[in-house]
Amino acid sequence: MTNPQRFEAQRVAGIAQSDIRLMSRRCMEVGAVNLGQGICDQPTPDLVKEAAKAAIDADQSIYSKYEGIDPLRAAIARKMKSYNGIECDPDTDVMVSAGSTGAFVAAVLSFIEAGDEVILFSPFYGYHLNVLKLARPTIKHVTLRGDNWEFDPDELAAAFTSKTKAIIVNTPANPCGKVFTREELATIAGLCQEHDVLAITDEIYEYILYDDHEHVSLATLPGMADRTITISGFSKTYNMTGWRLGYSVAAQPLTARMGVVADLVYICPPTPLQHGVVAAFDLPASYYEQMSADYAAKRAMTMEACDAVGLRSLAPHGSYYLMVDVRDAGFTTDREAADVLLNHCGVAAVPGSSFYVDPKDGATQLRLCFAKQDHDLERACAGIRSLPDVMASR
Ligand SMILES: Cc1ncc(COP(=O)(O)O)c(C=O)c1O
Repeated sequence: MTNPQRFEAQRVAGIAQSDIRLMSRRCMEVGAVNLGQGICDQPTPDLVKEAAKAAIDADQSIYSKYEGIDPLRAAIARKMKSYNGIECDPDTDVMVSAGSTGAFVAAVLSFIEAGDEVILFSPFYGYHLNVLKLARPTIKHVTLRGDNWEFDPDELAAAFTSKTKAIIVNTPANPCGKVFTREELATIAGLCQEHDVLAITDEIYEYILYDDHEHVSLATLPGMADRTITISGFSKTYNMTGWRLGYSVAAQPLTARMGVVADLVYICPPTPLQHGVVAAFDLPASYYEQMSADYAAKRAMTMEACDAVGLRSLAPHGSYYLMVDVRDAGFTTDREAADVLLNHCGVAAVPGSSFYVDPKDGATQLRLCFAKQDHDLERACAGIRSLPDVMASR
C-alpha cells in the first residue's frame, strides 16, 4: 500500500495548518462568533468597488506587468512619501503583489536560504514563521515581554551573528498590537548596519493605531533605505482581504530580484482589481481617522467585556487584536480557555501558545480579533460576559 506522505518534500515537513484556521473551522461547526481569524468583515469602500467593476467592464482582463500597473505604482510611491516618509521610484522600487503575503514570499524566496539565520520576534504572525520555514534558514526568536511588549536590547544583539541574513519586523504587530517606537527601531537599525543585515518589515496595519501611537517605517531611519524591504497592502486598510493586493517598496536591485520570483510564482496580481484599488488613494483623510476611531471603540468594547470576567488584557497600540491572560478567569491553559469560550460562550479565540516557538510562553494567553461588525462583536462580548456563570456551573 502506498503511503502518499512519502512524496512530501522536506521543506514542508514541519509546517502544519495553523490553530487559527482550525479554530475557524470549529467555530463554523458550532455557530460561534469568530474572534479567531483576522478577517475584517466591514464593507470595501464603494468607490473602490465601482472602479473595479468599471475595469472589468472595460475588459482590463489580461496579465499586467509583474510589478503591477503603472498608475497603481505611482499612487503607492506618492503615499510612501506622504504617509511613510519613504522616497521611492515607482518604476524601479515598487512592486504590487498578490496580497502583502505575495511580497513577503517573494522576499523570503529571493534572499533567504538554508545556512542563513533570520531573526523573528515572538509572539509572531504564523505566516512569517511558516513562509520562512519554506526557505529553511535557522530562525532565532527574540521574545517581546512586559506591558509594552519590549525586547531586551542585549538579547536582540546576541541574536545577531555572522550568519544573520535578515530580521523580520511587524509593526503594528499581529498578534500583540505592539507599535515599535522610533528608539526601538533605531536599536534594530544599528544592529542591521553593524552586521550587514536585511530588514523585512510587515506594515499591513500601519493605519490602525490607537491613542497617540505613531507608525514609523524602519526604512526611514538613517542607513536603512537600501537594506529594508517595506511591505504593506490593501487588505486591512480597505477591508478587502479577498482581493489579494499588497505591495513592497525596496531599492531597485532588491525589487528586481523579488519581481522575477513573484512573476514565477503567480505572474501578476489580479489586473482589474489593481485598477480598482487605485481609487482608494482618493479617499479623504477622514476615512482613515474614522477607521481608527471605529477600531478604538471596538477595542474598548472588547477590553471591557474581557476585564469584567478576569480576562486581563494589555491595550494594543495598533492592529485589531487583543491578547488576554486567562489565569484570573479561572483557567490554567490557553486551550482549556479557548474550548470553554467556544463551546459554552459562543466565541472563537486562538490559543496563545500558537504564537510562540516555545508554546509555554503563550500557554496562558488567548488572541481575540475585534475587527467585527458591531452586532457580531456585541454578541461575542455578551458571550464573554457569560463566562463566570459558565465557570460556576462546571
Ligand atoms: C501581520 C500580517 N501580515 C500580513 C497579513 C496578510 O496580508 P495580505 O492579505 O495583504 O496578504 C496578515 C493577515 O492577517 C497579518 O496579520
